[in-house]
Amino acid sequence: MKIQIAPSILAADLSCLGDEIARAVDGGCDAIHIDIMDHHFVPNLSFGPSIVETVRRLTDLPLDVHLMVDNPYDMLASFAGAGSDYLTIHVEVVDDVPAALGAIADLGVRPGLSLKPDMPVESVIPFLDRIAILLVMSVFPGFGGQAFMESSYGRIAKIAEASRKLDSPPLISVDGGVDMANAPLLAKAGATYLVAGTSIFRNHGAAENIRKMRAALREIYS
Ligand code: DX5
Ligand code: ZN
Repeated sequence: MKIQIAPSILAADLSCLGDEIARAVDGGCDAIHIDIMDHHFVPNLSFGPSIVETVRRLTDLPLDVHLMVDNPYDMLASFAGAGSDYLTIHVEVVDDVPAALGAIADLGVRPGLSLKPDMPVESVIPFLDRIAILLVMSVFPGFGGQAFMESSYGRIAKIAEASRKLDSPPLISVDGGVDMANAPLLAKAGATYLVAGTSIFRNHGAAENIRKMRAALREIYS
């Protein structure tokens, strides 16, 4: 199975976002990851729907929008209207998870759930058959450039095992500190979709870095 690579534009040079996206597309990425932070769910602020609209004009690739917010309901329609293809919410921020996933799907967007490193894997298992993507955080959300948490391998493996029993399993995504060294290990553990910011956008090297990550992933099959 092809492992998808989604660069996180949190680490891109926003003064030349068009060039950064073009380099990522040239490197052969599969989607663009956009981090939305509200300074409540996480101790940082990032982007609003207008950046999704901007990236939508720069590429036809799927836009994977990661909502690190306390009240996703208030924002779903504007992020859907801005051109999101995936809208991922954190599992603990809504009382009724199926209703929230249904609200996303009703907007014509693929729903996703995310797990912070301290949330039990069991909290998302009942919903795996209703989502398009399950995002395992491998750092505490809020900032790019943090060190990858080794405990993530076991969590991914558990989710991969539960997903194998499903007719249409979700993509298993990992986000935080992903780089060329841990990418193959994450794929071995069962991740099918890698989000990476710093390791891809560093030094305006997105095209080359995505090719390097792809080459590292190929080694697991040889
Ligand atoms: C962290 C964000 C990540 C972040 C990853 O809260 O959800 O998507 O951009 O950045 P790196 O790859 O630099 O850890
Ligand atoms: Zn993210």
